[in-house]
Amino acid sequence: MSNLVQELEALEGEAIAALEGTTSRAETESWYADYLGRKGRMTALLRGLSGLPAEERPLVGQTANRIKGALEARLQERQGAMDQAAMEQALAAEGIDVSVPGRRPSVGKLHPTTATQREIVEIFAGMGFQVYDSPEVESDEMNFGLLNFAPDHPARDMQDTFFTTQKDVILRTHTSPGQMRCMLEYAPEPIRVVVPGKVFRNEDVTARSEMMFYQVEGLVVGKKITFADLKGTLLNFANQMYGKGRSIRFRKSYFPFTEPSVEVDVDCVLCGAKGCRLCKHTGWLEILGAGMVHPVVLQNGGYDPAVFSGYAFGMGIERQAMMKRSIDDIRYFYSNDARFLERVG
Ligand code: DAH
Repeated sequence: MSNLVQELEALEGEAIAALEGTTSRAETESWYADYLGRKGRMTALLRGLSGLPAEERPLVGQTANRIKGALEARLQERQGAMDQAAMEQALAAEGIDVSVPGRRPSVGKLHPTTATQREIVEIFAGMGFQVYDSPEVESDEMNFGLLNFAPDHPARDMQDTFFTTQKDVILRTHTSPGQMRCMLEYAPEPIRVVVPGKVFRNEDVTARSEMMFYQVEGLVVGKKITFADLKGTLLNFANQMYGKGRSIRFRKSYFPFTEPSVEVDVDCVLCGAKGCRLCKHTGWLEILGAGMVHPVVLQNGGYDPAVFSGYAFGMGIERQAMMKRSIDDIRYFYSNDARFLERVG
């Protein structure tokens, strides 16, 4: 038998042993280059083929092909086993547990002011009120003058005003100018609207007052509208907002745009009128101001006070939220503390 066949078989044995000793894919690749590559040892041996007698060549060729095939098969097997082991190791290291619950995306919610505003508007919508939009930047005339505030009347001091660099242009101090805009737009049609929105007061910020807050105004104008209508509407509101069986009481008050004027209290939601810290031991919580629309205001809005009458009311939205949800500091609403915003709403 040709020497070359023996040498090839010896090479096979050596190659198998070397392959067994590889520990990484990179090592198997250089093993391939060493034994089977274009510049490898098998190729080098086969260079001797041309020096052999023609009858010996086929056997050498067959042997070389068998060995090459066998080595390649072993190589594949070894690389497959290495890949499998690497994957098992990676899986064990990553420790994927498909039964662990996923991360919940955090879903936003309505701001407590918005939620409360919607609640209030919905209650009045149920009684047939429509929503009227009115601007936050107002004329002095609309905010005060047409609402029967005399130019130097001390009532203006109750609502410290933000002025602008433009004469007579102010930030509205209450939603009441919405009454006037609505009347001017719809006179002599009957009116039943609520006007929700932002208002501004140039005041020190304390636990009880912000310089920007929200109100809901109410206005009803028509023929034969009486104080009894106002009472019934507000009692219905108090029962829906603060719970069935609530009582309300009216205290006389003063607003330039209503006559008579009242402040309306609801029996304390916390103690049921027995007296507690929330109601300052009076048993009552003030929820809003109201009254019959002043004849001068009706007239300014385009309604003949001899024919038409009306009532109006105005309430602070944060104030309702604070009473209903026992919040003791209005500053929480706009200080962007996510803990508050998540808890309340
Ligand atoms: N505008 C008043 C305020 O901001 C609240 C108010 C009182 C509104 C009586 C009314 C009303 O419509 O009739 O303090």
